[in-house]
Amino acid sequence: MNPVRIAPSILSADFARLGDEVRAIDAAGADWIHVDVMDGHFVPNISFGPAVMKSVRGMTTKPFDVHLMISPVDAYLDAFAEAGADTITVHVEAGPHIHRSLQHIKVLGKRAGVVLCPGTPAKMLDYLIDMVDLVLVMSVNPGFGGQQFIPSQLKKIAAIRKMIDASGRAIDLEVDGGIDPDTAARCIDAGADALVAGTAVFKDGPHGYAANIAALRGQ
Ligand code: DX5
Ligand code: ZN
Repeated sequence: MNPVRIAPSILSADFARLGDEVRAIDAAGADWIHVDVMDGHFVPNISFGPAVMKSVRGMTTKPFDVHLMISPVDAYLDAFAEAGADTITVHVEAGPHIHRSLQHIKVLGKRAGVVLCPGTPAKMLDYLIDMVDLVLVMSVNPGFGGQQFIPSQLKKIAAIRKMIDASGRAIDLEVDGGIDPDTAARCIDAGADALVAGTAVFKDGPHGYAANIAALRGQ
């Protein structure tokens, strides 16, 4: 398995200094920049859209890992591709045509990710696993940073690890929500190879970013 990739979520950054925050997590060792897009409809919170993301894209060359909590989502895929997304991840729960959304992301030349809410079974991936580059398991209900990790998701992570290995394809298995050094280790044990963290990275201000990212790697 690959060494774990850490994707700090800029939802927990200081929005007044967003460009500097992206530069700071890059310098602190982030592997990917996780971008949480919330529409106030699919989830009960609003964050930011493609224009804000585009304005900070030039602050780093690291991949942008874009998590779209938007329903319906299809009309926004082109805008996030143009704004500089590398991976675009869409919820199976966001509409009836997840397969079409993933096909469209591939047509745009981007990595396609699929994400499952805590109440959604791994089985939903049966007919999607062969077309995705990333599976994201939500370990909190999406909408807010700073929530508590839901331990029942560890079983789902382990089940999806088996599905990925059986597929023979290189698919990243990422976990999002309530990740700290303790839950990070449990997710890695269950088979995750990428972790999103908001609170655990940003909690101490910029001087803590490098140590907080290292701690998630178990260092
Ligand atoms: C929740 C978001 C997460 C969240 C993670 O809807 O997808 O990425 O910001 O924040 P923490 O690490 O604070 O749980
Ligand atoms: Zn996220």
